[in-house]
Amino acid sequence: MTSTDLSTTSDGTGSDDPAPNPHATAEQVAAARADPKLANVLYHDWEAGSYDEKWSISYDERCIDYAVGRFELAAGGPAAPYGRALELGCGTGFFLLNLMQGGVAFSGSVTDLSPGMVQVALRNAAGLGLDVDGRVADAERIPYDDDTFDLVVGHAVLHHIPDLDATFREVLRVLKPGGRFVFAGEPTRIGDRYARRLGQATWWVTTRITRLPLLSGWLGDWRRPQAELDESSRAAALESLVDLHTFDPDELEATARAAGALQVRAVTEELSAAFFGWPVRTFEAAVPPGRLGIGWAMFAWRTWERFSGLDARVLSRVVPRRFFYNALITGVAGGGGPDLGPGSRPDQR
Ligand SMILES: C[S@@+](CC[C@H](N)C(=O)[O-])C[C@H]1O[C@@H](n2cnc3c(N)ncnc32)[C@H](O)[C@@H]1O
Repeated sequence: MTSTDLSTTSDGTGSDDPAPNPHATAEQVAAARADPKLANVLYHDWEAGSYDEKWSISYDERCIDYAVGRFELAAGGPAAPYGRALELGCGTGFFLLNLMQGGVAFSGSVTDLSPGMVQVALRNAAGLGLDVDGRVADAERIPYDDDTFDLVVGHAVLHHIPDLDATFREVLRVLKPGGRFVFAGEPTRIGDRYARRLGQATWWVTTRITRLPLLSGWLGDWRRPQAELDESSRAAALESLVDLHTFDPDELEATARAAGALQVRAVTEELSAAFFGWPVRTFEAAVPPGRLGIGWAMFAWRTWERFSGLDARVLSRVVPRRFFYNALITGVAGGGGPDLGPGSRPDQR
């Protein structure tokens, strides 16, 4: 399969979408080195089944608050209810499904380059009883008509897409005039540098300390089996092929404006929270699943929340935005009309 060969077999999503391929062959992985889109499909098909668990994604109050909070931070105010929303690079549906549960949109379409991710996102949506359809789709060529959506969203997807100019043009094409886009969870150029270094250092220390006799026997086994650690390292190698961009907030704004977007605004968040969060996340991935327990999970989440609060209330006032880890961007499609918020409620159309 190549990145352009995405329409062979049906996976039950109700269209001619290709089937998930969670077990890539060595030849496919080798071919992916020269094809970032193929790398994305292979990596994310491989991850789809365990993605929610890996990233502690849930569809309850915790993640609804987080998703709506990111939306409001980007959009610069309370999220007005939108009619029909599209998500690009939906993964398992984390962003749009939680936004819909939080009342940000009434109906939605989830799309992703990875058939495995679309399948899981649709399963999650059905389990939540949400009005959602889905397609396997490349964000550079969105398979929907002009002026279809009131809102386009994405979380942690822009940094995987080779041609961002084409993507923003497509986003503006499928948005109705006055429709809004919100992308969140994109690594900044400086933030990515320190997050990677912190992650690598934590991995190195944890995988060595857990080999010590005290932690590999006497206090219970804290070491993950070598085969699992090797698999994580292989996944990390494929991951390095799918991460294509990091962002300077000024340049990101310029890209969206050049595509024709209006009212463009990038914001950033997470500085102390990233310095805490990346080592913690890497540590959690390096020890056996379930070893740390719910007490640790609560401690990690609450501490991360406190650091996030410090970033939002204090550090964002004194530290330049490019030093924060996460970038978010919003803008509006031109062609007339105000921001399609409340006016796009189905009962007000
Ligand atoms: C880091 S994951 C984020 C998933 C989800 N949005 C979340 O936040 O949990 C990035 C997703 O973007 C998808 N993706 C990568 N390149 C893409 C492209 N060109 N078009 C559409 N989706 C793409 C990947 O398959 C993957 O599911």
